Amino acid sequence: MRRAVCPGSYDPPTNGHLDILERASGLFDEVCVAVLINKSKQGLFAVEERMEMLREISAHLGNVRIDSWHGLLVDYCRQHDIQAIVKGLRAISDFDYELQMAQMNQQLSGVETLFMPTKPPNSFLSSSLVKEVATYGGDVAHLLPEPVHKRLVRRLSQ
Ligand code: PNS
Repeated sequence: MRRAVCPGSYDPPTNGHLDILERASGLFDEVCVAVLINKSKQGLFAVEERMEMLREISAHLGNVRIDSWHGLLVDYCRQHDIQAIVKGLRAISDFDYELQMAQMNQQLSGVETLFMPTKPPNSFLSSSLVKEVATYGGDVAHLLPEPVHKRLVRRLSQ
């Protein structure tokens, strides 16, 4: 069984995330989407809400499983017999930090990281920017899967 993990904060999941999940799902027997806490980021959605959104938007992918994890990603991989971490790369600005994490994870446990280039229309997209634009009333409907956009609008109106 070839198993990969797509880890991230997913606060909230964007079209860019969904594109990577769809493409990873075609390459592996099983893809685990792990919602992890990034200590350097303040969350808008609770982990359970992020998982619900991910379940909704990946319902058409039969081999994708949604999960969450507190702790080191390599421990998650070890516990779930995962051989590869799949990360989307938007631009060279992502590369430095992603490379550092990939090398650290490889050195800690031997798990490999595969970088998947985002599709060009998603290359400027991030959850943080989407939240910022939406907070000030900008239209982000075309950047998010519909159920995610609905939840974001509802959350920001509260
Ligand atoms: O979506 P993000 O915020 O860019 O995802 C970053 C994330 C959550 C994947 C990264 O911070 C992570 O792997 N955190 C888990 C803790 C861990 O393993 N830290 C050491 C990384 S070398």
